[in-house]
Amino acid sequence: MLGSDINFFYYSGTGNTLLIVNEMIKIFSEKEIHVHSHKIEHTDPKKIDTGKTLGFAFPVAFQSAFPFIWNFINNLPQAKGTSVFMIDTMMAFSGAIVGPLKKVLISKGYTCIGAREIVMPNNWFPKKIDDEKNRKKINDGLEKARKYAEELIDDKASWNRIPFLSKGLYHICCNDLMMKRINLADGRRITVDKEKCLRCGLCSKLCPVNNIEMKEYPVWHNSCEVCMRCLSFCPVNAVFIPGKEFKKYRAVKAKELLTESSGES
Ligand SMILES: Cc1cc2nc3c(=O)[nH]c(=O)nc-3n(C[C@H](O)[C@H](O)[C@H](O)COP(=O)(O)O)c2cc1C
Repeated sequence: MLGSDINFFYYSGTGNTLLIVNEMIKIFSEKEIHVHSHKIEHTDPKKIDTGKTLGFAFPVAFQSAFPFIWNFINNLPQAKGTSVFMIDTMMAFSGAIVGPLKKVLISKGYTCIGAREIVMPNNWFPKKIDDEKNRKKINDGLEKARKYAEELIDDKASWNRIPFLSKGLYHICCNDLMMKRINLADGRRITVDKEKCLRCGLCSKLCPVNNIEMKEYPVWHNSCEVCMRCLSFCPVNAVFIPGKEFKKYRAVKAKELLTESSGES
């Protein structure tokens, strides 16, 4: 059961997930379901109130979710049947999140009432950006989000998974070696063009894992998870990866990702 009070925890790198979350909140509000939204990157999972229904939303990364999202999930408190729903956004396919997440939540005593994956535009080093196609994807995605919210309200949602596929892919995608290789390949090469940099500190403020220290210029430490925020939102295109060509994708303005919480609906 969804109940009438929801704590909705989300992370959105470039805005796709935020658009979906806001759309779902609209539908919930129309039915007088109160939603408090919180940013995953600013939440201590250990302090979450398990007395209310929980919602989780985040983008797919490497067939699964970013390590800091897993860290959040793994640190959730034990519950006594608290209802949970999830939603992720992705460019095409995920194999290692819906099933593995359900497994962790069940082991912690949660009741999994619904999971949905929604295709949205690609934000991972896109080679080109087709505004018209992206607009269509977003509109289709928002439609799916509305339907999913209604299914949750009507108690008709479900949390399905493909057990073998998700288990196998989870082990391939979410191991430390894989993460380190990805991290080394891209995250550790992110740098700033000092000629262009305005020293505004936006990249540092946006980083969900506090990996960017604002000194005279931004300095990247070693815990980048390649969420794309600093690369996508630099107002003067000063943040880059040497030798890597891609277009910037963003679905919202940076300030919408920085606003502390969309609050209570
Ligand atoms: C590092 C990284 C890895 C990604 N891996 C996948 C993936 O495995 N499968 C997929 O369909 N999309 C993948 N994507 C695309 C995003 O999941 C998708 O564009 C998502 O909607 C972005 O949401 P956001 O704007 O809320 O961050 C990846 C994106 C990033 C940045």
